Amino acid sequence: MHARASNRERRVMKIGIIGAGNIGGNLTRRLTALGHEVAVANSRGPETLHDLAEETGATAVRAEEAARGAEVVVVTVPVKAVPGLPAGLLDGAAADVAVIDTGNYYPRERDGRIDGIEDGDVTESRWTERQIGHPVIKAFNGTYAQDILDRHRPAGDPGRQAVPVSGDDEAAKRVVRALIDELGFDTVDNGGIDDSWRQQPGTPVYGLRAGADEVRKALAEASPERPEAFRG
Ligand SMILES: NC(=O)c1ccc[n+]([C@@H]2O[C@H](COP(=O)([O-])OP(=O)(O)OC[C@H]3O[C@@H](n4cnc5c(N)ncnc54)[C@H](OP(=O)(O)O)[C@@H]3O)[C@@H](O)[C@H]2O)c1
Repeated sequence: MHARASNRERRVMKIGIIGAGNIGGNLTRRLTALGHEVAVANSRGPETLHDLAEETGATAVRAEEAARGAEVVVVTVPVKAVPGLPAGLLDGAAADVAVIDTGNYYPRERDGRIDGIEDGDVTESRWTERQIGHPVIKAFNGTYAQDILDRHRPAGDPGRQAVPVSGDDEAAKRVVRALIDELGFDTVDNGGIDDSWRQQPGTPVYGLRAGADEVRKALAEASPERPEAFRG
């Protein structure tokens, strides 16, 4: 017997997913396939998530209910939608809930300029955690949504892709990294949320389909300057 995945890491978890689009939908598919209990929400209400719920066995809920009892919550909405998320979004979640933020700020194409990010000179995830009032773990923001379904591989597979993960809460980061391992990807620790600019849009690692060594190298090569195309 070897203790690669402890019982704690492999046990069924209650997971809330806020946002049921490209990323939220595919995480719902994979996490339910792994046996986790998933509650999923969008902005229009659970009645609009009937097909996804039927397909996956996830429970469609209102956004304010998604985090109830959850050990992991995924916030996967357009960044411009974050301030409009319900107040008390995380009420009723486990005390040590790990909140994953997959968001990317696209000021020119989708989100419009957000002064709090650009003038505040903070990382996108620092801004998001201030909006929702809870620390986040940044992960999957540079992963193509379809890869979540198509490119997962068992641990040790030479073609396994790696995902950079940033966050200040080390315990929450461990939970998230173990979950990503279960989902079929390696992870690379990219430090705290103040370091998460290294994985934001326009950086070398963003959208990079590669293993841990190349991901580490790309993170090291990032420039702290927000690329022109990602300024509002
Ligand atoms: N697409 C990708 O490949 C990809 C990859 C990595 C990261 N990301 C990032 O991850 C985030 C999500 O991307 P996506 O492509 O999955 O977006 P998407 O397909 O546009 O889906 C967005 C989801 O958010 C929901 N939503 C919006 N406002 C909400 C609110 N107030 N309460 C609850 N749900 C709300 C939408 O619900 P309704 O449809 O009901 O409005 C929709 O289900 C973005 O920040 C994106 O930049 C995307």
